[in-house]
Amino acid sequence: MAILKIARMGHPILRARAVEVPDPTAPDVARLVSTMVETMEDADGTGLAAPQVHMPWRIVVYKVEDDRADEEEEGEGVPLTVLVNPVIEFLDEETSIGFEACLSVPGMAGPVRRHENIRVTYQTLENEEITFDAHGFHARVIQHECDHLDGILYPSRIEDMSQFGFVEELGRAQAGAADDEDG
Ligand code: NI
Repeated sequence: MAILKIARMGHPILRARAVEVPDPTAPDVARLVSTMVETMEDADGTGLAAPQVHMPWRIVVYKVEDDRADEEEEGEGVPLTVLVNPVIEFLDEETSIGFEACLSVPGMAGPVRRHENIRVTYQTLENEEITFDAHGFHARVIQHECDHLDGILYPSRIEDMSQFGFVEELGRAQAGAADDEDG
């Protein structure tokens, strides 16, 4: 069991563009992913990107619990997923605003506009290329995590900063919504 220290907003690694993983099958990559998963679960996060644990690689792990999935997805969660070198394509112009939080911005939450429908292409740890479509909350999680790979934290995407604040200070309804995404 290894829990990695999570970088917080202000650390330069969170501002840097992460680099492509040249060989997803490398043992170092498997070890990093394993400790990322343990760290994410220990922190009770929905997702985690490698730069958040001070590793500048394009790797994301996430898991959507059943009760966090959108109703239109019939409450279906998404099992633990590992994305190596993910690339996002927006399928249309539809967007929605939802509250997000981030393990690198502890205690805070704010509303972020994200695309509703995306197509993701990535490599598995077995170096298999996979493409799938994601919608709603699932798409939001992936966009949040992939932003980390480009050195972007969600506060920089908030359009209405009056809604950005500490979860404990936000209204009860907002605090509940803020629980939507924590990666
Ligand atoms: Ni995050």
